[in-house]
Amino acid sequence: MSSALDSSKLKITKTTAPKTKLPNDQLVFGQSFTDHMLTIEWTAESGWGIPEIKPYGNLSLDPSACVFHYAFELFEGLKAYKDSKGKIRMFRPDMNMKRMNKSAARICLPTFDSEELIKLIGELLKIDGAFIPQERGYSLYIRPTMIGTTAGLGVGIPDRALLYVICSPVGPYYKTGFKAVRLEATDYATRAWPGGVGDKKLGANYAPCIKPQLEAASRGYQQNLWLFGPEKNVTEVGTMNFFVVFQDKATGKKELVTAPLDGTILEGVTRDSILSLARERLNPSEWDVNERYCTITEIASKAESGELVEAFGAGTAAVVSPIKEIGYNGTAINVPLLPGEQFGPLTKQIADWIAELQYGVVESEWSRVVN
Ligand code: COI
Repeated sequence: MSSALDSSKLKITKTTAPKTKLPNDQLVFGQSFTDHMLTIEWTAESGWGIPEIKPYGNLSLDPSACVFHYAFELFEGLKAYKDSKGKIRMFRPDMNMKRMNKSAARICLPTFDSEELIKLIGELLKIDGAFIPQERGYSLYIRPTMIGTTAGLGVGIPDRALLYVICSPVGPYYKTGFKAVRLEATDYATRAWPGGVGDKKLGANYAPCIKPQLEAASRGYQQNLWLFGPEKNVTEVGTMNFFVVFQDKATGKKELVTAPLDGTILEGVTRDSILSLARERLNPSEWDVNERYCTITEIASKAESGELVEAFGAGTAAVVSPIKEIGYNGTAINVPLLPGEQFGPLTKQIADWIAELQYGVVESEWSRVVN
């Protein structure tokens, strides 16, 4: 009988060597980790094994394990926050679990009961709660990961897997903080394509993206903007979803645009949150909120006509990241910012709306208190 993931079987072994916690101003994204991690082994024969919370430490794997050769790896990124009363809150963990299961199914790794993993992550958060920074802008980045661990070089369905969760206390993702970035539009390399896996959070989607980013960096840009196809549709920015705001000169109506989920776009939780909040809270007589294709040529021509209002990236790590310039074909498309500021008005509004929900200033179903 193959066992389902069962949080009630949790075994806990606490560290005997607790780490010294870094002050907030010394936190670098993903560089320091909490005292414990959660691990759960799976085999095709027995299903999910005993979930264990144990001291953070190295894994021991056979060098022929399929994760190392054929990229049987997927991950998630979500955050936990401490509210003003000291309660621990996870932001929309159900969305991450749903996506994690979709990623697992796509590369023949095992799926699991989302609520059971959320409960187990909650137990890990309670044990390592002292690592969750309380200050605004700071949080605990949670990294659930699943790898195929079957030993052997044959290419096939893994019959062994490991699901593990590690946690890193974090501050603002970019060293520069909430500051507008310059992007280089990349049309010589493609992040994802129709029928591919760009909508899944697979490690294999990330490694090939570094070189184009380095090339953009060598020309003085912080990130690259991914274009797709002969039309040069704007798809994503670096590792984030992309949003742009236009304002029609004739009618004055504004439009918030992001690429549609056509299989090439990561199904970002922040993306989804922004679309929901925008549809719920922006006045529909002043705003349209559209998931549609938008080309770099449209952005360039709207910049020219004064109809480009603002642009930003959206992801769990940075939440929103304002954009001030896009380099394309040797020319600079300037993206307006608020006078004297490093962001546009909607970017700031959305950052504030999301932070209020994440830190539990405004109660919502999206913010799950860990009990
Ligand atoms: C995010 O924006 O949350 C990401 O996907 C970045 C992560 C890969 C560090």
